[in-house]
Amino acid sequence: MTPADHTADRSGDAASGRGGESAPFDVSTATGLAMALRDLLEASYRLATQAGLDTPVAAKIGAHLGCELKDMAFVEESFPLWEHANLQRGIDAYLADHSPAAEWFGLSGMNRDHEDLATMITRPGPGYEISAVTHGTAAIGPDEAMEVVQFGLVLSTAPDDSPVVIGLRASDRFGPSECRMEILAAQRPAAVAVRGEIERLMRVHDVFRGQVLSFGVSEHRGNELLSFLPRPDLGAEQVVLPAGVLDSIERHVISITSHAERLRAVGQHLKRGLLLHGFPGTGKTHTVRYLMGRMSGCTVILMTGQAMRFIEPAAALARRLQPSMLVLEDVDLVAQDRSFGPDSSPLLFSLLEAMDGIGADADVTFVLTTNRAGMLERALVDRPGRVDLAVEIPKPDEQARERLLRLYAGTLELEADLAPVIAATEGVTASFIKELLRRAVLAAFRTSDDVRSLTDADLAAAAEELSEQRQALTRSLLGHSPGDGEAGDDTGGEAWDDTGGEPQLFPAPPGGRMAVPGRRAWRSPAVYLRSRGE
Ligand SMILES: Nc1ncnc2c1ncn2[C@@H]1O[C@H](COP(=O)(O)OP(=O)(O)O)[C@@H](O)[C@H]1O
Ligand SMILES: [Mg+2]
Repeated sequence: MTPADHTADRSGDAASGRGGESAPFDVSTATGLAMALRDLLEASYRLATQAGLDTPVAAKIGAHLGCELKDMAFVEESFPLWEHANLQRGIDAYLADHSPAAEWFGLSGMNRDHEDLATMITRPGPGYEISAVTHGTAAIGPDEAMEVVQFGLVLSTAPDDSPVVIGLRASDRFGPSECRMEILAAQRPAAVAVRGEIERLMRVHDVFRGQVLSFGVSEHRGNELLSFLPRPDLGAEQVVLPAGVLDSIERHVISITSHAERLRAVGQHLKRGLLLHGFPGTGKTHTVRYLMGRMSGCTVILMTGQAMRFIEPAAALARRLQPSMLVLEDVDLVAQDRSFGPDSSPLLFSLLEAMDGIGADADVTFVLTTNRAGMLERALVDRPGRVDLAVEIPKPDEQARERLLRLYAGTLELEADLAPVIAATEGVTASFIKELLRRAVLAAFRTSDDVRSLTDADLAAAAEELSEQRQALTRSLLGHSPGDGEAGDDTGGEAWDDTGGEPQLFPAPPGGRMAVPGRRAWRSPAVYLRSRGE
């Protein structure tokens, strides 16, 4: 209870002290007694509170604010813990403008984590003592952190020059994981103005702007975490896709940002949705990483798996930090999960709602990746406008496989005859070829200490390893579609199911199932190479 509350209670008590008609004395005596009692009560309260407020903490704050502490105004604002660096920056910027010489101090006492600042300051008796500030650190980049106040107060002034006290604290030990600013002032409007200005400065100095961020789930209490990732830097030559595919994706995502102002001026919407679909290991994530590298000033927010339940704060962040790209990786894996939302609708619907909730004028790109486009198709068709470009990332054709072989040979020269390897790897994914090359390099290392090139024998050894029967799961995990009679689940298969005459985003051909490029039985490159007498 604050002193203000006490006042209200006490004066209420005093006012309700009734004389009553049956009193054995006259009205003037009753009035005199009532007034005397009221005076007595007020004097006692003043004495009691003054005794309590005579702590060094109360004296310091009271002297700064210049008002009776029972009359002070108190406003606060809480943020998720991952905003701590922003809150610190906002307050730092505010202090730089209004009280550059101000020094932080701390309070120590038993109930520090459970009481608000106003209560702590006005608590009578030996409640809290002035102490050193508690500091912590908060990340502000992939390899950068800043010092933040974990618990501290600072004396400052409001924009109208009236005195204020700003408190900052963060906690994830008790109660919710949050950071909080608390502002005390003689007049409420001053405290509110300070809060508003600090919030504005937080956005000006936002540490997340232009960063690559990833939402995760804290093991601690299941709440959201936000971490920084380094921005990948891939050249277009490192992304092996059919001619024109990468261009069309780039055009859709990047050129809208390049022309954002002009598009807005002529009333065009900026928000866009890109769906990348295809077998696992074909390069959907790889393509997203390429885009991230190309869009250097753009904020990227990545979400996968369980963390997708935080779509609402993520979408708000994407809007706040535009131009931005919100990537929902492997949406099919959690699309049907109903355990996240309060209304227990499938997560996919929450994702689509969030996509819609961001205004059309926002320079935000949603990127969804999925191994099973069919799973999302109905939901996307039923709610048009969320995804305006769907691109299949196919398995590599002959030409692409050759490019991949050369790419993943790295700095080693390819002495081997590639034609048989290219022929034998029909139907495998790009990630399979990458692994083939890694094993070929290892095979080469096993035979020589000075390896400069890869030979037929190295590639044959790698292919042999990967084609052994006990590597069936490895092959499947690398995204090679198994042939008849081979164990393993074709994870891409469901994407092409006919949904029965309904409108489809990716219509199946008249035969019912869409042809999947390169879907053939596995022919072992090792067998192929051996048959050539290797
Ligand atoms: N099209 C591609 N071009 C070049 N490398 C690729 C390609 N596809 C996959 N890779 C390689 O295989 C790895 C795994 O692919 P990834 O992008 O994660 O597949 P997906 O997200 O489609 O399941 C990538 O990190 C990359 O090294
Ligand atoms: Mg992926």
